[in-house]
Amino acid sequence: MYTVTCIAPVNIAVLKYWGKKDEELILPVNDSISATLDTDHLFTKTTVMTSENFKEDRMWLNGQEENMENCRLQRCLTEIRKRAKHSKHLQWKIHICSENNFPTGAGLASSAAGYACLVLALAKLYEIKGELSSIARIGSGSACRSVIGGFVKWSMGSLPDGSDSIAKQIVPASHWPEMRVIILVLDDTRKKVPSSIGMRRSMETSDMLKLRINYVVSDRAKRIERAIIEKDFETFAICTMKDSNQLHAICMDTYPPLFYMNEESRAIVDLVHTYNETVKKVQVAYTFDAGPNAVLYLLEENVPEFLGVLLYAYPEIGKIEYCKGLPRDNILISQELNKAMNIKPHEISPPVRIKCMIHTKLGDGPKYIIQPENHLLNQKGLPINHV
Ligand code: DP6
Repeated sequence: MYTVTCIAPVNIAVLKYWGKKDEELILPVNDSISATLDTDHLFTKTTVMTSENFKEDRMWLNGQEENMENCRLQRCLTEIRKRAKHSKHLQWKIHICSENNFPTGAGLASSAAGYACLVLALAKLYEIKGELSSIARIGSGSACRSVIGGFVKWSMGSLPDGSDSIAKQIVPASHWPEMRVIILVLDDTRKKVPSSIGMRRSMETSDMLKLRINYVVSDRAKRIERAIIEKDFETFAICTMKDSNQLHAICMDTYPPLFYMNEESRAIVDLVHTYNETVKKVQVAYTFDAGPNAVLYLLEENVPEFLGVLLYAYPEIGKIEYCKGLPRDNILISQELNKAMNIKPHEISPPVRIKCMIHTKLGDGPKYIIQPENHLLNQKGLPINHV
């Protein structure tokens, strides 16, 4: 019997991936750039086990047994097995158990962390060496970026077999240690239109997406990459916000339109712009994926002041139980700033119901867990909490 457990991070794109030129191989229509978040706060944990006693391949996801017929999962397994053809125990069946420590399918990149984790765990189980982001990519496009820490670029590539559509690190997390991320979970239920379906619909119907691919993305990619290397927060933030806005404009231009952001998300956008205008500097950037939750990028030195603004604008944040991540004990509420911003707590319309706030930073990428007591499968190959 062999067992491997891996922990993989969530990544949040600052230059979005939206649209595929090949749906089977998951080849994107543009390069994308993301930050890998710290696994101390958000992660997927996966244990894979192989044994000659197992009768069939089985998988459990967040406590529920899942159907192994899922074609993306099968594609990953086939590729792994192809690369592991010399492994001695390749004929044995496998058991997989995976858990997220955050809501699944709520626009928090759970499939990215999930497939990255699965691929890395299996690669270690079968001792596969070499490039692994391309295997994670065929599970879920954005997963290829979760295989690596720091700021990461997924190059679309040009080869028809997708072998050059891989993720590479731009800089490690230590390059910009002051970077902080605040996630405001406004809705923790599964999204209505999954991103794969949404982006297919955009590819079929949105003229704006063609414009983005041909005229916008490559210049913006260069600017944002340079901003990251030079630690130029203002350029980084403006590019990030514009790219998020463009993604959601394309969603509106898709027919029928896709609504991922809601009124509450737009209230957060407003608040960020009002704050930046008031302090006369771009100090906070927002970005939204295929869901209403806001992800904010900001520097550590501005966290106390911006948390003060958030807490003043949305007093209920102080009461929510589900707050995770770095400490929030140095919140600075400035009456002067609140007055200048002209925010009126309780009067914000619509009322923003923040379910959870996560304060985190960049991380170094996935890691393996060696201690057997941390595996998710027991000696019989069943989930430890199995009844
Ligand atoms: C909006 O990677 O979930 O988060 O490749 O079909 O699995 P599939 O899509 P997925 O799309 C993520 C889209 C996004 C933007 C991004 O992460 O770049």
